[in-house]
Amino acid sequence: MRITLGVTGGVAAYKAAELVRRLQQEGHSVQVVMTRAAREFVTPLTFAALSGQKVITDLFRDSSGSEANLESAIEHIAVAQRTDLLLVAPATADIMAKFARGVADDFLTTLYLACTAPVVVAPAMNVNMWNHTATQENVATLRARGVKIAQPDEGYLACGMTGPGRLAGLEEILTAIHEITKAHRDLDGETILVSAGPTCEDLDPVRFLTNRSSGKMGYAVAEAAARRGAKVILVSGPVNLETPAGVERADVRTAEEMRRAVLDRSAEASMIILAAAVADYRPVERRAEKIKKGNAPLTISLEPTTDILAELAKNKGQKIVVGFAAETERVAENARKKLASKNADLIVANDVTAEGAGFDQDTNVVTLFSRDGRDHALPKMPKTEVAQRILDEVLRLRSVLHAPASRHSNV
Ligand code: CTP
Repeated sequence: MRITLGVTGGVAAYKAAELVRRLQQEGHSVQVVMTRAAREFVTPLTFAALSGQKVITDLFRDSSGSEANLESAIEHIAVAQRTDLLLVAPATADIMAKFARGVADDFLTTLYLACTAPVVVAPAMNVNMWNHTATQENVATLRARGVKIAQPDEGYLACGMTGPGRLAGLEEILTAIHEITKAHRDLDGETILVSAGPTCEDLDPVRFLTNRSSGKMGYAVAEAAARRGAKVILVSGPVNLETPAGVERADVRTAEEMRRAVLDRSAEASMIILAAAVADYRPVERRAEKIKKGNAPLTISLEPTTDILAELAKNKGQKIVVGFAAETERVAENARKKLASKNADLIVANDVTAEGAGFDQDTNVVTLFSRDGRDHALPKMPKTEVAQRILDEVLRLRSVLHAPASRHSNV
């Protein structure tokens, strides 16, 4: 899991160093973000050395103090998108007040607003500050929003007083994280087959037919599924993307290669999500030599490829099969038609001409058309988030379509 650890200004900041080590031992990668006050207690170098990653300190400059640039100005969004869990330890009364009110005046507070991942906050402060109505109200606000609070311990505090306010023990903080990671591994034990990217159909040794698919949507689905605990097999057309962590990738080029790879691996999958933009036609003939230029018009004969989704979904049994529909008009009508004609369980449809949707973008605007009649239009959101929503819908659909009772009656 990718954990972002926010360290704020308190004597307990040094304890966050041990937390980084423990989280790494559990296999998580840790990105540390420090507030200005935290740097009065511990240097970023300590965390950089422990985490093996650059520590983020300012909204507009990196920890090396270099000048503001576009990259640092939008980094909080990039960090928010790659955060699976935001942990703030120690959390001061100030940071909780800012989180509660939605103040965004530094990297950590801005990240909190931009982040959709679960949040764990481990407060540490003077006993009176902790007991103050203002702090308690902020804690209640955060709890109501779903933030998990690692309750501070009672004991002797750095200020010389005794009472609640000491940073919760490492084990308690880790337990809070384990509860969340467990809940987020809802695809444990599943095998998910995903197709992504375009296909290329060769005309001759130097020319081919392809399309504008970047593969980003399919890769986002593969990555999200792996993070949620699934074994993921990704059959990929030619793309410029890194294989997501923990994903098994099979590279293919043509529609026929993709068909074979998908059919080969489909038996072991419980869910199949075909996000690839597969060529509908391929040249009847692939010339061995380069086609030479001439003055007469050139006609190329094309033949239809096999529809992988339709072929696979014919005998899908209890597998959940998801297709995509890239449309330029009458999105709902075409998507519902594809759902029925291809025997899919879910069609993720997008109008590729809409702003913020379609090829090579990081966002998408889609509607989910489900077999049980549900249409669910999602607002414009990052493809990483669309991926999570697709997986949520797949799980919902499976519980509706293949509830244990109906499975029983089929036996
Ligand atoms: N698909 C497939 N095999 C093909 C063509 C498409 O499996 N040879 C799958 C895609 O992966 C996608 C879905 O079918 O999940 C819909 O693809 P799309 O290109 O939107 O639709 P087509 O069926 O090709 O129809 P059209 O191009 O006429 O809209």
